[in-house]
Amino acid sequence: MKDFKFYAPTEVVFGKESEEQVAALIKKYGGTKVLVHYGGKSAERSGLLDKICGLLTEGGIPFVKLGGVVPNPRLSLTQQGIELCRREGIDFILAVGGGSVIDSSKCIGYGVPYEGNVWDFYLGKAKPKTMLPVACVLTIPAAGSEMSESSVITNEDGDVKLGYSNNLSRPKFAIMNPERTFTLPPYQTAAGVTDMMMHTMERYFTKDDDMDFTTDVAEAMLRSIKNAVFAVLKNPEDYRYRAQIMWGGSLMHNGLTGCGVEEDWATHQLEHELSGMFDVTHGAGLAAVWPSWARYVMHENLSRFVRFAVNVMDVPNDFTDPEGTALRGIEAVERFYHAIGMPVNICELIGRSITDEEIREMTRKCSRDNQRTVGGLKILHPADMEAIYKMARG
Ligand code: NZQ
Ligand code: ZN
Repeated sequence: MKDFKFYAPTEVVFGKESEEQVAALIKKYGGTKVLVHYGGKSAERSGLLDKICGLLTEGGIPFVKLGGVVPNPRLSLTQQGIELCRREGIDFILAVGGGSVIDSSKCIGYGVPYEGNVWDFYLGKAKPKTMLPVACVLTIPAAGSEMSESSVITNEDGDVKLGYSNNLSRPKFAIMNPERTFTLPPYQTAAGVTDMMMHTMERYFTKDDDMDFTTDVAEAMLRSIKNAVFAVLKNPEDYRYRAQIMWGGSLMHNGLTGCGVEEDWATHQLEHELSGMFDVTHGAGLAAVWPSWARYVMHENLSRFVRFAVNVMDVPNDFTDPEGTALRGIEAVERFYHAIGMPVNICELIGRSITDEEIREMTRKCSRDNQRTVGGLKILHPADMEAIYKMARG
């Protein structure tokens, strides 16, 4: 079992009307002038943005607004946000939206007190000493950024999508009202569920077999979310199951399911090149890659794949044929993805077959010009990355 630290400092305020507490929470965490950061139209259309702004005004907290965050959030907008915060003397950032808005907020938070280019952090050229505090009103359960230490940003210059992780960026508080997710379209709901499940699967598929508690918790979470998604696809206003998914999304990525095990994250790294190059929804990109990754690496810890097949995907255990059981588990995941409207390969994801040249380019980027490997269960070298992209081509 690996030694570990578990650090999850975010105050979660969960439930109907939870956003009513926004002004008091900002004051509690020292905010006196706020940047309200948001995405496209969804928070405006639902009235959430107006409600939050009204509550800040009532609470006597001055604020400025910056919208326009797109999925796979762009570096250029964060640079505008950094300038805006400096000009306006902002000392607190409130993200109203999903992973993209929260990640953009974290990036702005890093950049405000830093004299250099904030991209330096994502390139690993510098480490922030401090940042503006960030908090969020979550509108889509998916990325888990509301409790995580990560921020993933796309630099339009070269379509490079990079993540940066630092505990400084864990949100001070996260307001989560499941009713705010009723308006999510089925595709975003399904992609979100795929992403959150993957955050736990990236930690579950490990060589470390001795942290039973973490493994049992992970399996229970995966089963619970896998069942809940069908209820909300059938009835988008099902509060009970929207709530399971919303809380699950946070716990599946706040570090809990990684305690005591070596994490993998290869599927995420391979996917970031897909969403960097084709601007696809992150969760759907994960679904397009995972089955191929799983088939490529399963012999590194076959019993783990058997356990997953039986305990999570309800595959009968054929004790005489562990490989067959593991493969049937992967097929069951593919059926699950199709049942919720997700792709299982890149052709289904982008609507055409990718070229050899595109595969080489994604491999080059994922391996940082042959300078790095990815993965933990199996260390993937550039040739492995290329092989998996080819298997996932569809
Ligand atoms: O822009 P608007 O109009 O708000 O629409 C958004 C967006 O188009 C819409 N949406 C959000 N809440 C809604 C809603 N539509 C209707 N009703 C609502 N209540 O959903 C779309 C997707 O939003 P986005 O924020 O992009 O989704 P998500 O939370 O999946 O975030 C994805 C980003 O997070 C990164 C991904 O790479 C991707 O860039 N990740 C961040 C992580 C982290 N910080 O820890 C970890 C993840 O692995 C992931 O890499
Ligand atoms: Zn993810």
